[in-house]
Amino acid sequence: MQDIEKRINVLIHQMTLEEKAGQMSQIAGDMGDLENIKDTIRKGKAGSVINAIGVEQVNEFQRIAVNESRLGIPLIIGRDVIHGYKTILPIPLGQAASWNPELVKVGARISAIEAAADGIRWTFAPMIDISRDPRWGRIAESLGEDPYLASVLGSAMIEGFQNKDLTRHDSVAACAKHFAGYGYSESGKDYAAVDMSEPRLRNVVLPPFKEAVKAKAATFMTSFSEINGIPASASEFLMKDILRNEWGFEGFIVSDWDAIIQLVDQGFSETKKDAAFAALNAGVDMEMVSQSYADHLESLINESRIGMELIDECVRNILRVKFQLGLFDDPFTNPQIFSEPGSIHHLDISRQAATESCVLLKNEKGILPLEVNKIKNLAIIGPLADEPSEQLGTWVFDAIPEWAETPLQAIRKERENQFNIHYAKGLDFSRSKDRSGFPAAVEAGRNSDVILLFLGEEAILSGEAHCRADIDLPGIQDVLVSELAKLGKPMVLIFLAGRPLTIQNTLEFADAALYAWHPGTMGGPAIADILFGKASPSGKLPVTFPKLVGQIPIYYAQKKSGRPTAEKDIIFIDDIPIGAPQTSLGNTTFHQDAGVEPLFPFGYGLSYGRFEYSKIAISKDRIRLGESFEVYVDLMNAGQYEATEISQLYISDLFASLTRPVKELKKFQRHTLKPGEIKSLQFILHTDELGFYNGKNIYVTETGKFEVFIGADSNTALKISFEIIA
Ligand code: GLC
Repeated sequence: MQDIEKRINVLIHQMTLEEKAGQMSQIAGDMGDLENIKDTIRKGKAGSVINAIGVEQVNEFQRIAVNESRLGIPLIIGRDVIHGYKTILPIPLGQAASWNPELVKVGARISAIEAAADGIRWTFAPMIDISRDPRWGRIAESLGEDPYLASVLGSAMIEGFQNKDLTRHDSVAACAKHFAGYGYSESGKDYAAVDMSEPRLRNVVLPPFKEAVKAKAATFMTSFSEINGIPASASEFLMKDILRNEWGFEGFIVSDWDAIIQLVDQGFSETKKDAAFAALNAGVDMEMVSQSYADHLESLINESRIGMELIDECVRNILRVKFQLGLFDDPFTNPQIFSEPGSIHHLDISRQAATESCVLLKNEKGILPLEVNKIKNLAIIGPLADEPSEQLGTWVFDAIPEWAETPLQAIRKERENQFNIHYAKGLDFSRSKDRSGFPAAVEAGRNSDVILLFLGEEAILSGEAHCRADIDLPGIQDVLVSELAKLGKPMVLIFLAGRPLTIQNTLEFADAALYAWHPGTMGGPAIADILFGKASPSGKLPVTFPKLVGQIPIYYAQKKSGRPTAEKDIIFIDDIPIGAPQTSLGNTTFHQDAGVEPLFPFGYGLSYGRFEYSKIAISKDRIRLGESFEVYVDLMNAGQYEATEISQLYISDLFASLTRPVKELKKFQRHTLKPGEIKSLQFILHTDELGFYNGKNIYVTETGKFEVFIGADSNTALKISFEIIA
């Protein structure tokens, strides 16, 4: 490590201010005149290129940087490799539903291999913004609503990308983003303001980022959003006080795209020069695409608004990562030394990830898994049954749609000889309001024993800047459902979407429902495997599903109300007597038209087994601060199929100096049990894991009464009490 610092010092002393500004500037490889881009690199005015396309272009840019610039400093090539590169995995929200860190890590690993083969050694992932608002399009890219789950899976992604040794040619520097608070954009509208207390920031938003530093994420990216009046890209509190000083982060920080010059639009900086000063002063080392550093560093130095030591620190941070990546030793890529993108191995991982991300929401009368010998005619209907590009989801710049296998293709390929397949789209695309396809769809349903109806959202309806104020099924898909329901046939709904949708009414018509998110390249075979029982669904919701959009924000770790209520005690709007006296309905916390419960809680997901929990126990009911303890439970598969259960452990801190959530996820385990099998589970906890940031922003575990819950989802009532003592 000392050798790297020495080599950095030598370079720093050789570099001109313009060359230092160059290292702090990332340019877009796919915007503007190519010769100008090459000239910028040749003059040492770019330290990084985003969106360079293809091996030839990347190697050419590197050749110019190394052989034709004055100091020969290699570029770091960045790209959004969010959930796959050419082989696409489920969207991160889908991967989060797998609750499988090992699988998430492997997915990031194959993504890194495919990207590094093209010379991309820096990805702008994982996105670990805690997301509790499904109106926000970027919930698709997130790992859901829970800090613990997002921490575990985000760290797994970092390990997968960086592979413990950044110098390897197939390692890719990760980028923990968006620091911080972006998921709380007001009204779920992208680029809107964020406002929250520091305890919420520290107890909910920051934990995944803190774990990202522990996981050695090489870079961080600032958020577009302001938080409490200060845009993140100008926040000394976030970048200096917390990221650098409290957490000891040693990598480099990049702004989001144009986020520095947007400080002017946000009314924080009057000019782009002021914006450059604010971002630099707060700690942004590299500017993504906008050129305020390149344009204004010299005058900021000449006016003594900043010192050269500040600039040198930014350049050091950037050069350090480049050295760690081995770019100074060999910046070029040779695809021949990599495994083939789209290889069977990569496709199998994509398929496994898609299988484990599917969440079974409903399965009345055990209609699933489908029994092939009872089906002579199968209807496959819907606007998402055969859409290779749509099933890939958002952030798939380098995907190969031709590699994608749709549900229709998979079922035809694997089962065409077992029954007749009647396919009809019903609607041309998810937003369509054109009913002309309905007769053919109804005809296909009428001639079939079972209807598989594929619904959801086109990919463009989620992701960055793709927010919706109404999260029902788009278009008239719900009309198609009700038309088909009139046939009285068994009907399975399969949803492909980038967010939770408000599907309460739609589900009334379904005998079974499977949520596949946007499942990626191998979504078709994965869904088929589950529908026909080659795999049992094991996914659990990483985010709460509201009944109505008006319930948002709704999430399991809500704070306790002073006026709690239970769904069973609520008088709903249609049941209120006419002329009811004002206080006759009880003054408790609920919506008259939605109650207090979500449609599906965080952690919910059925399987083909039937899991029962019993005999919760604890190693001791009085635990001293600083001690570990165990919690036990028996898990039984009372069903008739082998299945996998993700058992979840939550704690509740009953009384504290700051009010605490009703529950907080602290552990989870996955177990596959045969029918009738019973397993005794043991969870080990330490009192340090039960703490929170208090009113003085100090992390503490307070003594007092706690409850620990274990079960199949966040609604579990199976609990045992204990006390923490000094
Ligand atoms: C985008 C996104 C960010 C992404 C970057 C580069 O605007 O906010 O997540 O990594 O720009 O594409």
